[in-house]
Amino acid sequence: MSRNTVARINLAAIKHNYLYAKSCVPGAQAVAIVKANAYGHNAIKVASYLDSEVDLFGVACIEEAIEIRQSGVKSPILLLEGVFEFDEIDYANKNNFLICVNSNKGLNWILNKDYSEPLTVFLKYDSGMGRLGFQDDTIVDAFEKLSSSKNVKEIVLMTHFACADEVGNMVTDRQMHKISSIYNALKKKYKFKLSISNSAGVLTKVYPSQDFIRPGIMLYGASPIDYNQHDQNLLTTMIVTAPIISIKNYNKGDNIGYGGTFICPKDMTVGVVAFGYGDGYPRHAITGTPVYINGSITHIVGRVSMDMLTIDLTNIPGTKINDIAELFGENVSINDVARCADTISYEIFTKITKRVYREYLY
Ligand SMILES: Cc1ncc(COP(=O)(O)O)c(C=O)c1O
Repeated sequence: MSRNTVARINLAAIKHNYLYAKSCVPGAQAVAIVKANAYGHNAIKVASYLDSEVDLFGVACIEEAIEIRQSGVKSPILLLEGVFEFDEIDYANKNNFLICVNSNKGLNWILNKDYSEPLTVFLKYDSGMGRLGFQDDTIVDAFEKLSSSKNVKEIVLMTHFACADEVGNMVTDRQMHKISSIYNALKKKYKFKLSISNSAGVLTKVYPSQDFIRPGIMLYGASPIDYNQHDQNLLTTMIVTAPIISIKNYNKGDNIGYGGTFICPKDMTVGVVAFGYGDGYPRHAITGTPVYINGSITHIVGRVSMDMLTIDLTNIPGTKINDIAELFGENVSINDVARCADTISYEIFTKITKRVYREYLY
């Protein structure tokens, strides 16, 4: 590794965050969401490490589940987007993949064939997300059809919050009201389970009683709630660092980087860090985005390039070539970087490219 750009991934911290998520909703099982390569943390490494601890893993699609299963992971895996083709149902059933049913197409595939083993089905209710799932006028009918099918052994009624990261948002109240009404009505007649909360729902404890929570981003140490604050109970799971490869002095009025968008307001020392959008750093990160080096927080000046970014070293005089800058992790919060780039931690995590060397801590 000559170009010393590194993402240090702490698997023990992910386990800690998983257990913390479970402690927020006592009695609930937890689906550890490891889709999109475990939010960029390496799904096989994360799932293998957590396998003996988790109740279930959650991925988007069967290809992600197969990759994890083939690595030797034994826990059940939930397919959050359901199946895309009819044949996937048998394959899923044989491999202990649980299916979300989000539409009539998936529902009919489950009802209209004989399966060797009955299925556990997560039935999705669109209570206000406006995305996948059955709406108010079809959810009870879908539930009853599944319930009376010999192909189904267990139903988990699930829904997904749209705005739980914004504390006090009325959409969450409306969603909670709707899911409670459906749950209470069905519960008079049927036995089934309930799955409601993503990380934001878990952390704000908006629906404290349920059978399965589905934490994603909180496993990776980033709170979705108040982007200004780090939740002290969550441990950092990824620290991204890169070396300084150039240090030069510039005069007041000199311009820095593509487009010449940054013009030195005074004489300045500028360092070049070997990390750019080709490594997954957001190109839209503005001048002022924090970077940590040699015990100090400084910031980006000018545009992020494909392989490099430039930082102000004027007030960090001892800095030398090959000193290591932290782009986010322990000293710079990923949420702060995300805010400066008008994005979210989820996107930054999932976009760190393969050019960045990975180290794993156990
Ligand atoms: C259905 C479902 N449940 C849970 C999650 C996890 O969400 P978060 O990462 O915000 O905890 C997601 C993520 O997109 C999802 O789609």
